[in-house]
Amino acid sequence: MFKLKDKDIIKCCLPVLENLFKKHKETYINLFFWERDVDINNLNLRPLLDTGLIKKVGNKFRANVFIFPLSGKFIVCDFLISHHRVKDGRYLRRKDDVWPIFAYESPYIAKKAIVKKGDYVLDLATGSGIIALFCAEKAKKVVGIDINPKAINYAQFNAILNNLEDKVEFRLGDLFEPVSAEKFDLIVWNGPTIATPDLPNKYPIYCFGGADGLNFTRKFIDRAPNYLSPKGRMQWLDPCLGNETSPKSLKIIKEIWGNSSLSVTYEQRVKPNPLYSLYENVGKFLLKPTKGLPRPLWIEPLTGKELSDWLDFLKRNNFTHIHAGMYRVYPSESFRITKTRPKKILFPRMNYLPQEWHFLSFSRIKQLLRICEGY
Ligand SMILES: C[S@@+](CC[C@H](N)C(=O)[O-])C[C@H]1O[C@@H](n2cnc3c(N)ncnc32)[C@H](O)[C@@H]1O
Repeated sequence: MFKLKDKDIIKCCLPVLENLFKKHKETYINLFFWERDVDINNLNLRPLLDTGLIKKVGNKFRANVFIFPLSGKFIVCDFLISHHRVKDGRYLRRKDDVWPIFAYESPYIAKKAIVKKGDYVLDLATGSGIIALFCAEKAKKVVGIDINPKAINYAQFNAILNNLEDKVEFRLGDLFEPVSAEKFDLIVWNGPTIATPDLPNKYPIYCFGGADGLNFTRKFIDRAPNYLSPKGRMQWLDPCLGNETSPKSLKIIKEIWGNSSLSVTYEQRVKPNPLYSLYENVGKFLLKPTKGLPRPLWIEPLTGKELSDWLDFLKRNNFTHIHAGMYRVYPSESFRITKTRPKKILFPRMNYLPQEWHFLSFSRIKQLLRICEGY
């Protein structure tokens, strides 16, 4: 956890990070993407040490956190895996890790947020606060909510670091609980939506979505309209199980919002991936280490029975494909749904582990950062 009292020291980190990223890119990537110990003699890294972003190990410096640079902002979060948290050949995860940033995910919605000047915005499941901080540029005010106290601490740190603490406020709580009497012009989120065996204690908070991945999404669809101003909009990223043509979330939306005056646009970001590969390969993949890659997103390994029960659940519920899309919802005269695709599919497969920054080359990292800038 970061100490937040001394704002001036946190703010001093911004020019240091800017300088490192612009003028010493390789050192920046070594430290914050590859998590390597680096020798830096000629630069003043004092603010980064004082705030705990980095530490001294012998004569070298080591990052305590991942820091993602995006359009002049620097977003502090945790590493998905760490070279320094390995046990029995397995990368360990912590229950309360703060979700890292992947090129095809959080930056996409952060930069494409349908925020208007003067909006009062809610960023649910805010994590590091990345989406809230990008919305804050146009919004009058942004509230970010997360159920993980460590995420709230990181988000508050990021707000101060990026000089946005007057425009964003982060609150601890479950879904809409901390804003029970408020209405927003935009509700935006990228939340815990990974379908996992129904064992919350085995997963970090950031990814546990329940057996069909829809625990959070279902509650959101059910409750969100209560928190919208008359012209309120909604937007979220939706990696969802479904059948060949549709994500399950779309069915839930029709059931719950079918009589409302909402216009729903679903931007299909990849072709639905058939789950047969999941049925056939996921067992092997979840139970055995994959060379050169971290194991999947659990804290505790699964047993064979836990896995086969879950695969049976998926089959019984006719989940045959994995979808990835972005929802945008606007007020309208009547209920309607439109499906779209982005002009260019930049990431035909959205798979976390092969995209883990520790395993990418310098040129690939630079390429991905350029893609994020272009969103
Ligand atoms: C995949 S992470 C995304 C974080 C951030 N929105 C981003 O794009 O980087 C999901 C986040 O949802 C939070 N979360 C999980 N369940 C929640 C709940 N019931 N209410 C609020 N936040 C929740 C987690 O703590 C985590 O920070």
